[in-house]
Parts: sequence; structure tokens; C-alpha cells
Amino acid sequence: MKISLGADHGAYELKEAVAKHLKEKGVEYEDYGCFSKESVDYPKYAYKAAKAVAEGECEFGIICCTTGLGVSMAANKVKGVRAAVCTDEHLAEMTRRHNNANVLCMGQSVVTVDEALGIVDVFLSTEFEGGRHLRRVNLLTDIENGIDISQK
Ligand code: RB5
Repeated sequence: MKISLGADHGAYELKEAVAKHLKEKGVEYEDYGCFSKESVDYPKYAYKAAKAVAEGECEFGIICCTTGLGVSMAANKVKGVRAAVCTDEHLAEMTRRHNNANVLCMGQSVVTVDEALGIVDVFLSTEFEGGRHLRRVNLLTDIENGIDISQK
């Protein structure tokens, strides 16, 4: 399993903590920046890390900013990405089981490092349930492809 990492300056430290955690667990990752606390534009880093997931370079992405919100908006505009902002382990579990989320977004001002690492562990170890949830995830893909699902 390979993980793409991305963050803006508002979550540089959180990304570094996640990277250290993954390294300690022996999980491979690619860090798409940013690489300091200098102010940057979050869509660029969210885009790079999300694109790596969409193109199959990485199985999952973990992308962070101050709130988790801006990076989730950017990531969700990349075709094939299902990004979810998670503030606790329950959300991380549910978005994997039901939404087959492939990008986890978190906010450095929202979760502690300890909470974030717990969220990461749950997100990466929870399987998608499939079944009726696959039908619903497929409808998300239809929307993404410009298909009108209002009569489906
Ligand atoms: C940066 O100031 C902040 O706007 C960014 O980290 C993020 O929270 C945006 O949604």
C-alpha cells in the first residue's frame, strides 16, 4: 500500500507527524509537500496528492490543511477521488465502509496529533463493505461523469 501525502502551511506539522507515523508502521508514502511553514495555496498540494490517487500511483491519500475543508474541496474536484474530512475514528471507519473514501482529509486546528494518527490507522485498516453501498458510490461516479441520476 502506498499513500500520497499533501498539506499546506496550516498543516505542515500534522503532515510531518503522519509521515513519521507511516514510516514507523512501514507504510510506503509519497510526500507531495508542502515542505515548510511558508504560506502556500492549499489547492495545489491537495491536487498533487489527490491526482496520485486518481491515477493509481497511490491507493489512498492523506491531505491536510488548517481545517481539512479547503483540501477536501480541491481533492473532490479530481475525477476518481472521494475525499472525506474526518474529525474522529468513527467518521474514518464509516467513510471507508460506506463511501469507499480514498482520500482522508484532516485539519491541524481541529484534531490533535494523537487523534489524527488514530484516524489514519482506522482509515487505512477499514474495508469498503460493497453491496448496496457500491450502488451508491457508483451513483457518485455517475454525477462526476455528468450523468443525470435524478430518475435512477
Ligand atoms: C490557510 O490559511 C487556510 O485557509 C487553509 O489551511 C485551509 O484551512 C483552507 O480551507
